[in-house]
Amino acid sequence: MIEDLWYKNAVIYCVDVETFQDGNGDGVGDFRGLARRLDYLAGLGVTCLWLLPFYPSPNRDNGYDIADFYGVDPRLGDLGDFVEFSHQCKLHGIRLIVDLVINHTSDRHPWFQQARADASSRFRDYYVWSAKKPRGAHKGMVFPGVQQSVWTRDRKAGAYYFHRFHEFQPDLNLSNPAVRDEIRKVMGFWLELGVSGFRVDAVPFLISGPGKAVRKGDPFAFLREMRQFLSWRCGDAVLLAEANVPMDEVLEYFGDEGDHMQLVFNFLANQHLFLSLVDEDARPLTRVLRSMTKLPPTAQWASFLRNHDELDLGRLTQAERKRAFAALGPDPRMQLYDRGLRRRLAPMLGGDARRLQLAYSLMFSLPGTPVLWYGEEIGMGERLSLRDRHAVRTPMQWSSEAHGGFTHAQAPFRPLVDRGAFAFERVNVAAQRRDPESLLNWIERTIRLRKECPEVGWGSARVMPTGDPAVLAMRYDFRGAAMLTLHNFARGPRSVRVAVGHDAKSSRLIDLLSHDDTRKTARGGHHRFELEGYGYRWFRLGAHDSAHQRVERPGD
Ligand code: NOJ
Repeated sequence: MIEDLWYKNAVIYCVDVETFQDGNGDGVGDFRGLARRLDYLAGLGVTCLWLLPFYPSPNRDNGYDIADFYGVDPRLGDLGDFVEFSHQCKLHGIRLIVDLVINHTSDRHPWFQQARADASSRFRDYYVWSAKKPRGAHKGMVFPGVQQSVWTRDRKAGAYYFHRFHEFQPDLNLSNPAVRDEIRKVMGFWLELGVSGFRVDAVPFLISGPGKAVRKGDPFAFLREMRQFLSWRCGDAVLLAEANVPMDEVLEYFGDEGDHMQLVFNFLANQHLFLSLVDEDARPLTRVLRSMTKLPPTAQWASFLRNHDELDLGRLTQAERKRAFAALGPDPRMQLYDRGLRRRLAPMLGGDARRLQLAYSLMFSLPGTPVLWYGEEIGMGERLSLRDRHAVRTPMQWSSEAHGGFTHAQAPFRPLVDRGAFAFERVNVAAQRRDPESLLNWIERTIRLRKECPEVGWGSARVMPTGDPAVLAMRYDFRGAAMLTLHNFARGPRSVRVAVGHDAKSSRLIDLLSHDDTRKTARGGHHRFELEGYGYRWFRLGAHDSAHQRVERPGD
């Protein structure tokens, strides 16, 4: 087994440079500011940062409309600042992955400008054109209610161009080998500047639809090409796929041989975890966990609760989604695109510390690598007066000082959450740092614990029967070390019996979260557990509380 798959036990933290920390006082977050906060991130236990797009862009889709793949948005710094920052990350032992948005460009990108201006330009074929408006132009829109069509006429070009997303995001023609060359060049560029890989945007659209890299018989050949290139240039770099697809399709994103993407976000577990929280019933999540097939050795799930987009509940049934909307975001202003909620986690769970801990305990113990959205560690809220997904993209709340310590400027480029229970005066890093019971300190402790549990990141996991639909039990095994976690989705206490296993270590459990070194012994490995409402437990099996005393390494 390959030992140095660093991402198997990583803790990934997603940052939008412009909203994290202003370093030069102009009201916009930047690389200099972010670099100053690396001590904070290292202290929290983060091992890998994922940066949202920071490239030059008209910023009509929060930077997902790129006008130059080789630069830095001048508001955030320049390439020199990026390299300094990338170096600082190394010094802090933090890896860096950056967003790779190659399904489309901005309509301001010089490629598109030349493509529309001149039908004989070599850039014309970089995009997907049609002389007439194709049928079904109103189907397949990603932003219903905001977007009108997936084909828009460009007056200058005298033709229609294809765009899966907004009309200012023309899709690239990935079946054109010249475009694929460009993408490799972009990847190679950022790898040379020190990144450890890419979060790849909109992966399902890279292999389907007009102008995509579909080759007869093997639509995934393009992903394999990307992976080969990546691994040649940098052996331990990774691709993290945004692919919100059904379980029977997701394996293809990893590749049978693990030769496509190393990491794929677990959107299904995410959506069903929320349904389980809403229904106080573990079964929706359990069903997904049971359907997760064995992955190739290099593959890994990425687990998350919230991200920079809406909480997408599009894979639930209509009735399930209705229940989730009613419980988590009943006000129509909280809802978006008929499928999601533009809210952060803490307000969705009513700011209830027990439920927040339950949710994060689950996220950190799902088989895979956890990914946090900035501000989650302090339980930030949303600002609904901002348009669409910007509601969850407000500046980081560092302190109760002016503008939450985010900037010294007169006004930040985007307002903070400054009213109600989640206002920066109430919810901020400085205050929570001093409070041992705060969410921040709880998350820090949980991250430390999670890193000491290679069984979760590396091992095999299985759901164990508990006899109670409200309680989820999972057992994890990795090279002789084993763990058990329990989560009670119900508001009331529960008592369950779990047959943990027949092996000797299953009869002795050590509670990894208790303050007093609680141990449980049960002959035959049949244990009874008393859980309070929304209670959770992490146990190590056997006589040692550290996995590392058990995990055998090659050469031992
Ligand atoms: C997915 C990103 O997460 C989202 O924010 C963006 O709008 C679309 N891709 C288009 O790039």
